[in-house]
Amino acid sequence: MTALKNDRFLRALLKQPVDVTPVWMMRQAGRYLPEYRASRAHAGDFMSLCMNPQFACEVTMQPLDRYPQLDAAILFSDILTIPDAMGQGLYFETGEGPRFKKVVSTLADIEALPIPDPHKDLGYVMDAVSTIRRELNGRVPLIGFSGSPWTLATYMVEGGSSKDFRKTKAMLYDNPQAMHLLLDKLAQSVTAYLNGQIMAGAQAVQIFDTWGGNLSAAAYQEFSLAYMRKIVSGLIREHEGRKVPVILFTKGGGLWLESIADAGADALGLDWTCDIGEARHRVGNRVALQGNMDPTVLYANPEAIRSEVGRILASYGKGTGHVFNLGHGITPEVNPEHAGAFLRAVHELSAQYHE
Ligand code: CP3
Repeated sequence: MTALKNDRFLRALLKQPVDVTPVWMMRQAGRYLPEYRASRAHAGDFMSLCMNPQFACEVTMQPLDRYPQLDAAILFSDILTIPDAMGQGLYFETGEGPRFKKVVSTLADIEALPIPDPHKDLGYVMDAVSTIRRELNGRVPLIGFSGSPWTLATYMVEGGSSKDFRKTKAMLYDNPQAMHLLLDKLAQSVTAYLNGQIMAGAQAVQIFDTWGGNLSAAAYQEFSLAYMRKIVSGLIREHEGRKVPVILFTKGGGLWLESIADAGADALGLDWTCDIGEARHRVGNRVALQGNMDPTVLYANPEAIRSEVGRILASYGKGTGHVFNLGHGITPEVNPEHAGAFLRAVHELSAQYHE
């Protein structure tokens, strides 16, 4: 394998010294880029981009080609590939988000769910990872990812996106044993899937717990964090002679950082509702932090963006252990030049915080 030319993302996750704070953006390959919209039109639709390794590779590279400041690439795919491989029939209705042909409603439905084999059932994702690694040729590290069991369960039980998670919450409280069986099957599936991505060439992995913050404090521990902890303990943590850092991102998890920091991961993703300096103080030396600019700041002018970047860097303070990111995904309406101003500001303003 080619040596990494830029490893500051991996170094910061492991709290090793860096020259400037590394940066990437959640959803960096996406609809705000005209070149992405052109590729999607060419492929036909979003899932065709995900299922064809050449297209997945092409769109993964687009933000890197446009922004030389990006310190990591992220696999172009979706978290809902796992429920699709379990037989739920994922499709996207334009403007409506994801939908499933089959929903999971009963204990019998859950008992019937298979645990997908990453190579047989999700081979297109493994192929995308190895294709992208080859194309990157050591430029920056490649991030693999999965949804958390709880977040995947919400889509599987609701049949798509939801505002209130009515069916999923009802199942959790009516039939906690059924919910635990579903989450346990998902934890096994996610572990195998992420290990497959690591063996195919992913150099760090992130677990997206997008809806964990919607749970009560007690339910979060029992129905989300416990399963992420189980996944982390089953992951391959070293490959190709390097550590493979694990990042846990619970959106809305700011109240529970101390316990998330104890789950065994290397880093925590933060949304924008907590102060990163306070978060650093709370988690101490246990984990690195990734985040946490409000993605809507990118609607403001480049001077305002730069000043917000400066504020977050100052709040984190001196030293390594910070990967700059948005607190959630970049939105389709953002002007690509504003994203560029954001990325440049992170490198320009952060040198003073490193020796
Ligand atoms: O960050 C990246 O660049 C990697 C690619 C990525 C996508 N989805 C591509 C995508 C990642 C990491 C995801 C994760 C994902 N998918 C999550 C968790 C991340 C988070 O935001 O917290 C969730 C909840 C999903 C499920 C999903 N996929 C939804 C709800 C939607 C519709 C969103 C919308 O805004 O319409 C998708 C579609 C999707 N996934 C798109 C992209 C680029 C847009 C599809 C299109 O081109 O129309």
